[in-house]
Amino acid sequence: MRVLGIETSCDETGVAIYDTERGLIANQLYSQIARHAEFGGVVPELASRDHLAKLAPMIAAALDEAEITADTLAAIAYTAGPGLIGALLVGACFANGYARSLGVPVIPVHHMEAHLLAPQLESEAPSFPFVALLVSGGHSMLVDVAGLGEYDVIGTTLDDAAGEACDKTAKLLGLPYPGGPALSAMAEQGDSERFRLPRPMLSRPGLDFSFSGLKTAVLMAVRELQGVPKNQPPKSADTLSAQDKADLAASFQAAIVETLARKCERAIRQTGRDALIVAGGVGANRQLRDALQQFGEAAGCQVFYPRPAYCTDNGAMIALAGAMRLDGAAGDYMIKATPRWPLADLAPA
Ligand code: KG4
Ligand code: ZN
Repeated sequence: MRVLGIETSCDETGVAIYDTERGLIANQLYSQIARHAEFGGVVPELASRDHLAKLAPMIAAALDEAEITADTLAAIAYTAGPGLIGALLVGACFANGYARSLGVPVIPVHHMEAHLLAPQLESEAPSFPFVALLVSGGHSMLVDVAGLGEYDVIGTTLDDAAGEACDKTAKLLGLPYPGGPALSAMAEQGDSERFRLPRPMLSRPGLDFSFSGLKTAVLMAVRELQGVPKNQPPKSADTLSAQDKADLAASFQAAIVETLARKCERAIRQTGRDALIVAGGVGANRQLRDALQQFGEAAGCQVFYPRPAYCTDNGAMIALAGAMRLDGAAGDYMIKATPRWPLADLAPA
């Protein structure tokens, strides 16, 4: 059975085909980052228009890549939420129209469930149950996963998501959007011990996160370096030396990685699970992957992550999630686009 997956929740257009016997047979990705970079963040209307322009040629390219024809597709899966409403609607309408023309059912996919299943695209795949750390631009969650659709969210962020904190801190250091990858590249040259930044929420029990204080701590350090008094805006990042910026980036990254790793450790202890999966854009961070690997080895807990390209948004994870939920595929062509959609609302397949 072959499922075409369509991802349009934010600023990446993803189209992929998953074959239940052969695995992933096509994977097309178009990133709109360059289009949004000059605005310092995603412009929703531009994102919708770009998805609309790219979907048809990308589906043709995916069919070519897989060397199959559209009439061999068993279903069309699409991201139905959470995400930007306009961007979601483009994918939802396209998927429903295309599925109807082919006479195949559609599968609305939850974007965070797809992130959570992404490690199963790899040959060394986790099996249920496990704890999942989902860290992206919009979400930071720890989830106790008993099986497909059996999700107990045991920790969440009280303010900014981990990726959002990376993006905002990167902006403060004069780095372009999206800041996460650039920030971690800059951190390579830096001294992570130079600025002692807080490890938010570690002194409190529980599994929730809070990242906005960390971002504020970086802002205070920047002001101090620039000699700007408190409650005044910082000067341009150009006034900081390259070493200052690298040290700030490294100190920030160390704080966020330590916080996430310690919470994962707590979650594993609390649930008694022996496997951890890490997914979502921030899961591509090398330092985080190394820290969790170390913890896993010490604690006898197996740690799984998808390759970085499957951590950030992509169509492959949507096609896979669709294939895993083929039984729930509907032929009623109801257009579902849900900007806010709690993961805990999902039901088992
Ligand atoms: O999952 P994703 O592609 O999109 C959402 O669903 O949000 O995650 C994007 C987020 C952005 O905030 C980006 O800065 C962050 O993931 N990110 C990273 C890295 N690569 C992407 N953060 C830290 N280190 C990275 N290497
Ligand atoms: Zn995502």
